[in-house]
Order: sequence, then structure tokens, then C-alpha cells
Amino acid sequence: MLELSAADDETRALMASALRGASGFDAEYPTVFGPRARGCVVRDVADGRVRSACAILVRDLRAPGGALRVGLIGSVATASADRGRGLATNVLERAERELARRGCVASLLWADDETFYGARGYARVGCEEDFVLGHEVRGRLPQVRGVRPARAEDAAAIHRLYREHPRRALRTRRETAALLAAPGMRVLVHEAERESNDEHGAATRDVDAYLCLGRGGDLAGAAHEWGGDADALLRLLRAALDDAGAAPLYLMAPLAADGAPEPGLPARLRELGVASAPGVLAMGKLLDPAAAIRAIDAAACAPIAWNDDPDRPASRTATGPRGAVRISDERLLEALFGVSGRREAAEALERATGATIPALPLAPFLWGLDSI
Ligand SMILES: CC(C)(COP(=O)(O)OP(=O)(O)OC[C@H]1O[C@@H](n2cnc3c(N)ncnc32)[C@H](O)[C@@H]1OP(=O)(O)O)[C@@H](O)C(=O)NCCC(=O)NCCS
Repeated sequence: MLELSAADDETRALMASALRGASGFDAEYPTVFGPRARGCVVRDVADGRVRSACAILVRDLRAPGGALRVGLIGSVATASADRGRGLATNVLERAERELARRGCVASLLWADDETFYGARGYARVGCEEDFVLGHEVRGRLPQVRGVRPARAEDAAAIHRLYREHPRRALRTRRETAALLAAPGMRVLVHEAERESNDEHGAATRDVDAYLCLGRGGDLAGAAHEWGGDADALLRLLRAALDDAGAAPLYLMAPLAADGAPEPGLPARLRELGVASAPGVLAMGKLLDPAAAIRAIDAAACAPIAWNDDPDRPASRTATGPRGAVRISDERLLEALFGVSGRREAAEALERATGATIPALPLAPFLWGLDSI
């Protein structure tokens, strides 16, 4: 039987043994397994035993050109004795139906096995910029000053800096604090030179930048979330490089859909000649074509008429002032998310219909702390 439930001990144990074989797995994902978590699990239960499960979490994404609600799917796992019988496929489909019911335009996941998800309708979508900071970069970065490990009381300042990102998922301050406490992650902060007074009149230095390094097996060696003043971030990166020894440091950043760097740190790193490559954000599947069309219409400068063809499911015709084009579910998702800093699907739609849609793709971004 397929059911939706809060994350229970048995489901956690199944996920931990299938995915990591280690304890402490649930502490890595407080938005699903923590107290008052918004996420939950979909599980297949037979004879009182959980055979297969996945975690789901709804997130509202903000980008300069618009907002999108997406459903994250994580920790897909089937007990080893029950594999190869379609259980994970059923769990995934049930998760997608639930996320569509909750208003998500698409489901997103980070796949270890792209073939498994590719066969189930997922494709690589979205944009990020992946920087590689080799040791030779160190001398181009400012001296380390004002850097220290984050403390629990920095969570509010870090959350404030996180909220300055134009591309991000909405999260509560509580969620940011819980995510920062996840095991296996180092968080560095930079203290501003100026002092201000706290509520007791004592002089304190404001935190003006933060950098999150590593998180679980997937993000080892990566700076996957950061925020704040670009100069202060360069100091944090130099401190992180000093700690990394000879190993390079990887830094994940948002990337606009036309391949332009995000202002702030990514633009500064490019100026400093730090190597980077465009990458994809995740694997995604369109869940709600009507919601995708609404988001495109909201961004379009000329009206587009959309018509379903009952003989051709999972696609529709878009008609604009110049002409018409058939667009599949996959291309609709690509038009919204972009792929690796390219706006091909949006351009094809513009060319065929004659409607200009400069805000497309919205190129929303998820920071490393958001992965489930
Ligand atoms: C991947 C996993 C969730 C599949 O669960 P499942 O219930 O066996 O999945 P289904 O029966 O619905 O589908 C089986 C598919 O998984 C693939 N597969 C991957 N590893 C497998 C394994 N060890 N045993 C059986 N099938 C496996 C099969 O090739 C098959 O794909 P296909 O139908 O496209 O040919 C399961 O093998 C598992 O828990 N693996 C470890 C955890 C993991 O890697 N999870 C993240 C996946 S990116």
C-alpha cells in the first residue's frame, strides 16, 4: 500500500541503509526528518513493513523574472530484498501526484543514477556555475582577516544574508538555523570591521558574509552555499583554500540563463580569472503544464494562445503573432528553467511565435542546503 506519512523511524532506517549505510543520515536533512519538518515521506508498506520510500518537500523558488513552486524528491530507496519489482517507480509516481496536488509546477531531484530517472521522464534542467579554485588562485585573494567558524547565534545574520540572493528558495529562519547545524558541514563567517552595539550595549561586529563547506557525501569539498559582501567572501574562500591543503575547492553559484555571471561573488571570481563551467541544476519533470504556461504567459510581452491536441498527449501548440509551434512537456520545463546557462527552448518559442519573452528562462536556483 502506498501512503503519505511524516518521516518515521523505520523509513529513515531503510533510507539510511540503502543510501549511506551510516548513522546520522537523518540529521543531514532536518527539513524532512527534523522536528516540525515541512517535508514528509511517501512509502510502500506491505505486511507491516516499509519496502520502498522517498522524501518530498515543497519549495517556492524566487528568481528575478518570476516565482515557481517546485517539489523536491530525495532519498529514493527500496529494501534490497524488494528491488526490481517496480516499487520505487510506484513510490516516485505517488510522490509526483502529491506534489502536483500541492501546486508544484515540476519535481526536481539530484540523481546518483540518471538512467533510472531518465526512463521515468526526468531530464537535466536548470543552470549553475561551477567554479574550481585551485591552489594557484590563493595569491589572487585578499588576506584572511576577520574569519571565524560560525556559532549558533550567527544563524539570524546568515539567514538575513541568504535572503539577499535574487535566486533562492524561500525558507524560514528556523529552517536555515536547522540546516546550518547539519553534521559534516563547516560554516565560516566574516566579521565586518565596524562595530555596533547589541541589545545590552556591548560592542559586537556584524557578520557580513558566510560560506558553507561540505555536506554529507554529495557535497564534500564544495562550497555550496554562501552569501554577503563579495570582498568578505573572497577572504572566506582564501581561508577555506588554506584548510583544503592541496585539494581544489569547488564553488557552486547561480547562473543567469544567458550565461551571464550573477553580480557579486561570481562576477568577481570571473574577473580574477578563476576557471568556471556552466552546469545543470538538477533533474526535473514537468508535473503541471497549466502552471508552467501561466508562468510563461506572465513573462511574455505578447499574448500566446495555447491549444492542447487530444491526439498528442504531453505536448501543446503555442500560437503568437508570427506563427505556431508544438512544444513538449520537456521543452516547456526547459523554457522555464534553462539548461546550463542556455535559453534554447525559450528562443525557439520566441522565434516561432514572434512573442518576446526576455525574462525566460527564469533560471531559478537551489542552494546546497536545500537539497534533500
Ligand atoms: C534505485 C532503487 C531505488 C530502485 O528501486 P526498485 O524498487 O528496485 O526500482 P524499480 O523496481 O521501480 O525499478 C528498477 C530499476 O532500478 C534499476 N536498478 C538499479 N539498481 C538496482 C538494483 N540493485 N536491483 C534492481 N534494480 C536496480 C533497474 O535497472 C530498473 O531500471 P529499469 O526498470 O529502468 O530497467 C533501488 O535500487 C535502491 O534503493 N538503490 C539504492 C539507493 C539508491 O541508489 N537510490 C537513489 C537512486 S538514484
